[in-house]
Amino acid sequence: SDYQDILVSEPESGVITITLNRPAARNALCNNLLKELAETLDASISDERIKAVVITGGEKVFAAGADIKEMAELDTVGVMNDIRPSYWRRIAQYPKPIIGAVNGFALGGGCELMMHCDIVIAGDNALFGQPEINLGIIPGAGGTQRLLRTVGKSMAMQLVLSGEFITAEQARDFGLVSEVTIPEMSYKRALKLAKTIAKKPPIAVRLAKESLLKAYETTLETGLNLERKAFTLLAATDDRREGIAAFMEKRRPEFKGK
Ligand code: HXC
Repeated sequence: SDYQDILVSEPESGVITITLNRPAARNALCNNLLKELAETLDASISDERIKAVVITGGEKVFAAGADIKEMAELDTVGVMNDIRPSYWRRIAQYPKPIIGAVNGFALGGGCELMMHCDIVIAGDNALFGQPEINLGIIPGAGGTQRLLRTVGKSMAMQLVLSGEFITAEQARDFGLVSEVTIPEMSYKRALKLAKTIAKKPPIAVRLAKESLLKAYETTLETGLNLERKAFTLLAATDDRREGIAAFMEKRRPEFKGK
């Protein structure tokens, strides 16, 4: 790829891998890295070869947060006019599944990026934290909101107020990650999951993700309505006819994304 701060693989079996690639800065999420990430995701939306995305930082570190050196340059007006929130919004609104393979530190903005992944596989060397408090700031890309909705009040307060880290196993206990592996296996497992999902009917996958994410931000009634509308919409797809026909005929379905 032509990127400076990330590596992007060619699509294979419906999956691309985006590797955060600033090892000398512990993959700190500088503006350019976030921009490249948002652009890659945007470009993949209409690419039918891409059905799911794996994001990883490699075996040693996921991401040590926002780039503190860049952040140091910004005063209040600078932060107010910062383009970064628009990159985060594009990542948050990405419609295809994102699987995170997280090893080593996932701190600050790195922990927040991890929370933008729909499924996370963590190496047992992973450490999660929101250490912003040590810099006189607070999380700014969902670390007070998404974190609390996932791990509950006490652990969210503990992480954000103390800046202490938690381990991969604790993160699993609290629902931040779904599986813990040895560090060498987290990427393989994430890729396998992504390839499994890539074989599923894409419209159903997309509406399932949308419905699940809605649960973060709405009442049960509104969420149930959205789920039902999505469920109803799917009755019009060729893939539903194919999935049900294949079941009846005891054969494998062939989904077309229509
Ligand atoms: C810029 C960073 C960085 C960061 C590490 N580096 N983290 N540069 N921004 N977030 C750089 C260091 O300056 C150093 O560069 C090199 O990476 C190696 O770092 P070390 O500290 O020597 O490595 P190590 O001892 O292994 O410790 C790793 C670490 C530590 C625990 C991850 O680097 C650390 O605490 N980093 C900061 C974590 C943090 O506070 N994150 C929150 C950021 S605020 P040189 O040039 O000296 O070799 C945030 C706000 C988000 O994320 C708001 C929403 C957007």
